[in-house]
Amino acid sequence: MFWLLLAVSYLIGSVPTALIVGKLFFGVDIRELGSKNPGATNTLRVLGKKSAVFVLLIDLGKGALAAYLPLFFHLSAEPLYFGLAAVIGHCFPIFAGFRGGKAIATTAGALMIADLPLLLIAYVTFFFVILLTKYVFLGSISVGISLLAYDLYSVRLDFELIFLLFFILLIYLHRSNIRNFILGIEPKINDKSLKND
Ligand code: G3P
Repeated sequence: MFWLLLAVSYLIGSVPTALIVGKLFFGVDIRELGSKNPGATNTLRVLGKKSAVFVLLIDLGKGALAAYLPLFFHLSAEPLYFGLAAVIGHCFPIFAGFRGGKAIATTAGALMIADLPLLLIAYVTFFFVILLTKYVFLGSISVGISLLAYDLYSVRLDFELIFLLFFILLIYLHRSNIRNFILGIEPKINDKSLKND
């Protein structure tokens, strides 16, 4: 049951929301536009507010639904594992050639069910960093840093390892943002100009 639900969680996360919205309603492949990231931020950038809110909610829902699976089936296993399986699906989706998003919305959904205090710590930091810097990717990386920092007080070895791997994954997924930032061409949240890297 554990492995089956983990696989189902990965498949739930693999549903490429931004890609579907782009193709269905705009006839475009979002992976060819803006930052080329099939996530809510790039959807806002290239497809507009309504689509971005829709993508954000569905991507959140994927993480939450996956984290809820063990509770629904009365499985005594950590909901975070399933939420993070959906995050892996979101980042490396089997339904979209393994070219997915950058984890942030789906992780929020997973934490919503798995660990509310962690959600608050990580995502208050996320919004605070974006408010201060106007760079979404810095907010996203700060999610990984705050989870790692929280880990210092945690007694759970599995969480410590998971959040370390998660932080490394975030840096990998945001490598083009980091490079663009160094080159001075990373767009701020209110910048509509498209990147063509
Ligand atoms: O959560 C996604 C964000 O960190 C970066 O998105 O489209 O600017 O690469 P984007």
